[in-house]
Amino acid sequence: MKRALLILVVTACGPAEELETGLAVAAPERPMQQPPPQQQPALTGLPCDVRDVMQAACARCHMGSPPNIPAFRTRTEMIAMSEKIAGRVSGTTGAPMPPRLESRQLSAAERTLLLDWIAQGLPAGACGDLQ
Ligand code: HEC
Repeated sequence: MKRALLILVVTACGPAEELETGLAVAAPERPMQQPPPQQQPALTGLPCDVRDVMQAACARCHMGSPPNIPAFRTRTEMIAMSEKIAGRVSGTTGAPMPPRLESRQLSAAERTLLLDWIAQGLPAGACGDLQ
């Protein structure tokens, strides 16, 4: 009785091992799909510090409503208007922005932050658009 069971177990194991080996050989070799560790996902939004300042000081008026005020919500729109933005923020061309009567003005540090960002070519960052 015991001998019969042992034979059954051995027989049952045999074909299974062969099957596994066959699959392993048949499996196609796949090239490594993972990117190299230094590769980061491309950033497309605004730098978070820039976004926070413009959200607080500009978004109230420059989101496309009313339509007579030029809108800039995205980095792409800001790139297209970067010289005008720099001129208004620095006060060198046109009426200063934010307008003088606006209660939320830029601090000196915030003005420097925006002007440095524009001078660097408006590099992308990890935060999104103005909302
Ligand atoms: C209280 C509303 C208000 C706020 C806040 C405000 N703006 Fe303006 N902005 C205006 C209006 C109105 C105009 C159109 C009149 C003019 O050109 O001065 C304008 C015009 C501009 C222009 C000129 C666009 C062009 O086509 O010539 C720029 C650039 C600008 N704003 C940038 C900014 C920036 C940057 C901020 C934030 C730091 C800001 N504005 C905050 C109301 C605002």
